[in-house]
Amino acid sequence: MKQANFESVKRTENSITIINQTRLPLNFEHKQLSDYKEIINSIKRLEVRGAPAIGIAAAYGLAIAVQQKQQCDLEYLNRAAVELKASRPTAVNLSWAIDRMMNKFKSENPGGLDSALEVLWAEAEAIHEEDKKMCEHIGTNGASLINQGDHIITYCNTGILATGGIGTALGIIYTCHKQNKNNKIFVCETRPLLQGARLTAWELSQVGIDVTLIADNTAGALMLKNEISSVIVGADRITKNGDVVNKIGTYSLAVLAEKHNIPFYVAAPSSTFDNQSETGSEIEIEERQPEEITNGFGEQTTPSDIRVFSPAFDITPKELISKYITDRSILPGKR
Ligand code: MRU
Repeated sequence: MKQANFESVKRTENSITIINQTRLPLNFEHKQLSDYKEIINSIKRLEVRGAPAIGIAAAYGLAIAVQQKQQCDLEYLNRAAVELKASRPTAVNLSWAIDRMMNKFKSENPGGLDSALEVLWAEAEAIHEEDKKMCEHIGTNGASLINQGDHIITYCNTGILATGGIGTALGIIYTCHKQNKNNKIFVCETRPLLQGARLTAWELSQVGIDVTLIADNTAGALMLKNEISSVIVGADRITKNGDVVNKIGTYSLAVLAEKHNIPFYVAAPSSTFDNQSETGSEIEIEERQPEEITNGFGEQTTPSDIRVFSPAFDITPKELISKYITDRSILPGKR
């Protein structure tokens, strides 16, 4: 069986190297980042993306901030932490990782620059390593719900590119592949930025998984024809009541799955569960630039000056979720 051999984020001495995801699938390019402001820009531009991966990149970003300025006073670190957190507001993994870095720094209270750097690099590496392990556990837990030959719809990109390991929803698909379950995977394009078409279709075909790309509006027709056994998606944030914040379009898929009585599974690591927020309605939803809709990846496809509304994420209410697949266990949903 073919194995993917790339990593979304890699520590390279005093910097990180990411795969520039805006260049995929036609160009596989790395980008080395040794300035925390470059990391912020890469997160904003979605060069590195996916909830766990941006948390990992931001955690390294804090170590890099200290490394580049050779400065480790709390005021400077706090400032860098606030800037990193603001790069994308919706995925909780980013603020979770930064808070964890800052708490570690404060509790260790390192005296000098060398020990501050040691503490920060080590904590970022721990976050990275733990995410890798969580992905493995999600994969094993989730694969227990998938049968030989099942047909699965997945959305956006939740794989190696989006995490520190094999992925969340895609981690389950990779694990099933390893178990020779011969599943057929339908990947939604995921408008407007095509994470499904550009990234997931690319990832899965690298290892020879049976993948079929569909336009987002094809999912319902496949469900109606009894072609789909389950839907598995990732999450950017899961609130205390079980609402799921994920890529725009997730809600529509969940409604379709309910209509056709198809299980709708959400796969996410513990770091995606937000214990501070009660419901999805409290979460800030990032809005993207109109040009991502009007100009997409090529020519302008709309009238000039058209008003655009482009939220990057939506909220799927808990009532539409069959199960939550986490690194620790499988939790029942409300559907
Ligand atoms: O805007 P993106 O591409 O960062 O959105 C990513 C998603 O919505 C993923 O489903 C989510 O982050 C989970 S990734 C394991």
